[in-house]
Amino acid sequence: MNKDNVSTQSLKLENILDLAEELNSLKDIDAILDRILLESRLITGAVAGSIFLVENERLKFRYTHNDELYGKEGNNKYIYSSFEIPLNRNSVVGYVADTGKPLLIDDVYSLPENLPFHHNSSFDEKTGFHTKSMLTVPLKTLQGNIVGVMQIINATDATGKVISFPPESESLISFFARNATMAIERGIMTREMILRMMLMAELRDPKETGAHVQRVGAYSAEIYHRWALNKGINIQTIRRQKDVIRLASMLHDVGKIGISDSILKKPAKLDDNEYNIMKFHTIFGARLFHNASSELDILSREIALNHHEKWNGTGYPGKFKEESDESVTLGEGKKGEEIPISARITALADVFDALGSVRSYKEKWPDSKVLELIKSESGKHFDPEVVDAFFQILEVIIAIRDKYQ
Ligand SMILES: [Fe+2]
Ligand SMILES: [Fe+2]
Repeated sequence: MNKDNVSTQSLKLENILDLAEELNSLKDIDAILDRILLESRLITGAVAGSIFLVENERLKFRYTHNDELYGKEGNNKYIYSSFEIPLNRNSVVGYVADTGKPLLIDDVYSLPENLPFHHNSSFDEKTGFHTKSMLTVPLKTLQGNIVGVMQIINATDATGKVISFPPESESLISFFARNATMAIERGIMTREMILRMMLMAELRDPKETGAHVQRVGAYSAEIYHRWALNKGINIQTIRRQKDVIRLASMLHDVGKIGISDSILKKPAKLDDNEYNIMKFHTIFGARLFHNASSELDILSREIALNHHEKWNGTGYPGKFKEESDESVTLGEGKKGEEIPISARITALADVFDALGSVRSYKEKWPDSKVLELIKSESGKHFDPEVVDAFFQILEVIIAIRDKYQ
C-alpha cells in the first residue's frame, strides 16, 4: 500500500467511527439497517446491497437497497419481502454466516467450481440486474455471535463503471460492521420492547394483535415517507422522522390499558355510554408520555392523543378540558392541520388495517370496498394529501400486509 492509500484509509476509518456514533442516535431497527447499508455503499460506491438477520437458525432477508432497480429516495417494497434461506455453506451469505469470515468476490459468474457455495442467479434473471462484484461480511457481536450478514454488490468507480471491491474495503467494511452490530442488537431490542408493551395491552384487548401493531407502524412509516417526498422534504430529514414515526405509531392504542375489560372484551358493538368511555383511551395513552422529552416520547404522545381525530373536525377527544385526573370533558374535534401529521397518517393506517381484518363485531371487508371507503373519506375522515400518498404506495402497503400476517 502506498502513502496515499494509507492516508485515505485512515481518513475513512475516522469517518467510520463518526458513523458508528451516529448510528446510536437511531432507534428503530429498520432505520438502523437502512443507515448501515447506505453508509457501507457510500464508502465503496456499491450500487446495491442487502442485510440478512439470523432467526431460528435461518437467514431472513431483512433490508435491501438497489439504486438501479428501486431508485435512491422512494419507498422500497422489497424490504417487506419474506424471503429466507437456510444457514448453511451452500450460499454466499450462508457461508459467511457460518464461517464468520468476510468474502470478497470479483465476479460471481466466474467462481471456481470447487467452492462449497455458489451464486444464486435467480434474482438477476427475474429483475434483469447484473450482479458482478460482491463483498459479504458477517455482523458479529463483541462476544462473537453472528446476528446476520451484510452483502454489498457492484462497487463502482467515479464514472459509474462496475469494478471489483478494492482489497482494503474488506477490512474497512468489516470494521464498520462490527460497530454497527451493536446498533442492530439495540434496534431489535427496542422493537421487541414495544411489541411486549403492546402485548400487555393486547392481553386486555384481543382485537389488538402484535401483527396489527407491526402493520400500522410500517404503514405509517411508509406513508410518511411518500407524503414527505411529495412535500419536498429532504431525504435526510425523512429518514430521521421515519425512524421515530414507526415506533410511535405502533404505540397508538397503548392507552387501552386504562379501559375496563367489560368494554374491551365485549363481543358486540359498544353502546353509546361504553363508546364514550372508550374514547378516553386517547387521553390515557397521552398521559403515559406526559413528561415527553425525547422525540420518540413527543411523537408517541401526539399519536396516542390524536389518532381518532378526523380531518373535518368530527373526531375525538378534541379540545378537551381536564379539571383533574378524573374529571375530563371532551371538546370540539380538532380540524385539518390542527391535527399533527403523525396522527393524520396513523389514523389512516389504523382504519385501513382494522377494516381489512376480522373483528368480533364484523366480518373482514374485501379490498375493493376498503379502498373505495378510504377514497370517499378523503377530506372527511382523512387528510387528502395523506390519502394521495397512501394510494401512491399501495404496492408497498400490500407487501407490508403480506409480511405481518
Ligand atoms: Fe385507538
Ligand atoms: Fe389500532
